[in-house]
Amino acid sequence: MEKNKELRIGIFVCHCGFNIGGVVDVPEVVEYAKTLPNVVCAEENLYACSSAGLNLIKECINKHSLNRVIVASCTPGTHEPLFRNTCEEAGLNKYLFEMVNIREHSSWVHMQHPKEATEKAKDLIRMAVAKASYLKPQIESELEINPSALVIGGGIAGMSVAMSLARQGFNVHLVEKEAELGGMIRRLYKLQPTERDASEVLREAVTAVKANKNIHVHMSTLVKEVEGFIGNFDVKLQEKDSNELEQINVGTMIVATGAEAFKPVGMYGYGEDENVVTQLELERLLKKGELSEPKRVVMIQCVGAREKTGRTYCSRICCMVALNNALLLKKLYPNVEVSILFRDLQTYGEYEDFYREARANFINFIRYDQDRPPKVALKPDGKLIVTVYDSYLSAEIEMDSDLVVLSTPLVQHEDGRKLSPVLKVPLGTDGFFFEAHPKLRPVDFTSEGIYVCGTAHGPKDVPESIAQAYAAASRAAIPMALRRVKAGAIKATVDKDVCVNCDACVVSCIFNAIDAEPFGLPSIIEANCKGCGVCAAECPMAAMQLAHFTDQQIVAAIEALFKPKKLVTSSGSFEPIVLCFACQWCSYGAADLAGVSRIQYPPNVRILRVPCSGRVDVLHVLKAFQNGADGVIVTGCHIGDCHYIDGNLKAKDRIDALKKSLKALDIDPERLEIGFASSSEGHRFAEMMTNFVEKIRRLGPNPLTVKGGVG
Ligand code: FES
Repeated sequence: MEKNKELRIGIFVCHCGFNIGGVVDVPEVVEYAKTLPNVVCAEENLYACSSAGLNLIKECINKHSLNRVIVASCTPGTHEPLFRNTCEEAGLNKYLFEMVNIREHSSWVHMQHPKEATEKAKDLIRMAVAKASYLKPQIESELEINPSALVIGGGIAGMSVAMSLARQGFNVHLVEKEAELGGMIRRLYKLQPTERDASEVLREAVTAVKANKNIHVHMSTLVKEVEGFIGNFDVKLQEKDSNELEQINVGTMIVATGAEAFKPVGMYGYGEDENVVTQLELERLLKKGELSEPKRVVMIQCVGAREKTGRTYCSRICCMVALNNALLLKKLYPNVEVSILFRDLQTYGEYEDFYREARANFINFIRYDQDRPPKVALKPDGKLIVTVYDSYLSAEIEMDSDLVVLSTPLVQHEDGRKLSPVLKVPLGTDGFFFEAHPKLRPVDFTSEGIYVCGTAHGPKDVPESIAQAYAAASRAAIPMALRRVKAGAIKATVDKDVCVNCDACVVSCIFNAIDAEPFGLPSIIEANCKGCGVCAAECPMAAMQLAHFTDQQIVAAIEALFKPKKLVTSSGSFEPIVLCFACQWCSYGAADLAGVSRIQYPPNVRILRVPCSGRVDVLHVLKAFQNGADGVIVTGCHIGDCHYIDGNLKAKDRIDALKKSLKALDIDPERLEIGFASSSEGHRFAEMMTNFVEKIRRLGPNPLTVKGGVG
C-alpha cells in the first residue's frame, strides 16, 4: 500500500494554559513540527479544545487544504471525539485525525525535566506524523436497531431497568433464573438510609413489572446462547428442567444478574455454631422475628474481604450494613451491647450519620489489625467468647457474646461467571462484570449494545443499584430510540491475495467475527468485530490487518521514533530510549492517571497506543529493536481484565515466546517485558516505567546500535 502522494498535514500544539506550556517549550515544538515531512501548517493554541482553538483547526483545514490533522495536547481518552468531530465539521474524514498526548504523558510526568519533556513531545509528534501519513478515511456503517431489550436478572436492578425501558415504550424481555422476582432484596429487612421495609419495595416493583404490558417476564430461565451484535442479538433462552430453547431477537442487552454474599465456612466458627451468622442471615432472622433477645452481640468486619490474595477488594457496603443492623438491634433490644470489630470503617455519603448515631447509641468500636484477627471460641457453658487485640489500646480484650455476626463481601456467583463467555463480556480480577471505562463509560461494556448495572458490576446498596439501573436503561434507550447507529470503523480487514488459509485468525477471534469455510478464505463479520486487533497480530502472513492500527502505520511510527537516533540527555551520558506499547483501555488509562496525579517517572519512555496489548505483533517488537530501541515494554490490562477478554493473555504468550528467541538475535531477553496495570493504577504504571528504565540503563545500549546495525 503506497503512501498518499499529496499529503498535507496540519499540526496543532496546545499549551493547555500552563499545564503543557509551563514545562514543554511549545514554540520550539511548533517550529520543529514545521520541519517534518508533508507538514504544511503548524500552530500553537492556548487551549486547543476552546471554541477559538477548534475554529483555528477548521480554518486551517480549509485554508491549507489539510488532509491529515494532528493535535498534540491532552489525552485522547477525553478529547479525541471532540477533535474528530471538528475535523468532520470541516469536511475531513474523522479517521484522518491523530492525537498526541503531551500533557499526561510528558509535561505532567516530567515536570522537573523541561528539556527532556520538550524532546519527548517532538518525538511523539514525529511518530504521529509518520503514522498519519498512512491513515485512510474510514466509513462507519449504519446498523438497524431492534427497539427491544433483554434484561438479564430480575432483582431490584433488573426490574428497575425493565420498568424504565418499558415506560419509554420499548419491548423488554426480563429473564430471571429463580422462580420468583426480587433477587437478594427478598432476603433483606430494612433498607438504608430510609429504614423502609425491603418487602414493601419489592412488592411495589414486582407489581409494577407484572402490570406492564411491554415487559415479558421469563421465570426460571437462563440465557444459553447469544449471537449477533448491537441492534440484532439472537438470544436462546432455556427454562429450567426443559430441553426446549426459545429464541428471541433484541437490540440491546442489560446484565443485572446481581451477586451473592460470601459464605465464610470454617471462619470464626461459621458453620459450626448456629450463633455465628452472616449479616444477611441476621437480617433474615430479624425479618422473620426469629431472633431471641441477645445480651451481647459482636460483629466482625472484613471477613473474607480485603485479603492479601483472592478477594482483595473492599465490598464497600459492609460497614453500612453492620451499622444499620447494629442500630436496628439497639432499637429492638435497647439493653443489648453491640461491639463492631473493624479494620477500617467506611461510611460514605450520608451514611456518615449512621456512624454518629451508632456512637451516640453506645455501640462499641474496636479496631483490629489484619495480621492479628479476632478469635471466636466456644466456652463450656455454650457461650461464645471473642478475643481481639485492640490496636489502639495495644491490649487483648475478651468479650462474651450470644451472637457473632460476620460481615462478608458480595461475590460474583456461578451463574454470572457462566454468563460472561456466553455474552463475550469480561469479568474483572474481582470477578464482577467489568465496564468499558470507570468514568467515561461506567455502565457500558466494550461490546456495543451491552450494558451492566447493580451488584453484577460490583458491591453496592439498593439505592445505588437502582440509580445505576436507570443509567443503564438510559444508555440502552439511546440506540433503540435512534433505531439506527453508526458502528465504529476500526475493524479487521483481510487481504485475500496474501492469506494462506491457515485459520490462525479464526482460532484467535473470541468474538466469532471471522468466518471461514473449511479450507476457505476468511471473511470478516464486521458487526461482530470489536477492533482488538488480536487476529492481525496472530496472522503469520500479515494478511489480516486492523483499520487505523495497521502494521504499516504502527511500524511507521516506530521507525520515526528512532530517526534521527538521538539521546535524550542533558549530561551526555547514555540514556536509554524505551518504547512502551499501551492498550487504549487500562494501561493507557494508568499512564494518564500517573500524569493527572503528577507521578514522575523517567522521561525515557515513549508511549504508543494500541487497541489492546493483543494487537502488538512480534514484527512491531522486532522493528523497534532493529531500529534502535534499548528496551520494549508491552503493557495492558491485568490478566482477567482485558476488555477483549483474553487479548492480554495472547500478548503474554507471544512476548514470552519472543523473549526466548531474542538471544539468537543478540538481544538480551531482559530488554523486553510485559506488564499490567489497571486504569486506577497510575502509581503502578510509573513504577513499572521507572524500574524498566533503570534495568535498561544497567544493560546499556541496544547492541545493534553499538554494532551500527541499526537503520
Ligand atoms: Fe487492555 Fe486487552 S484491552 S490488554
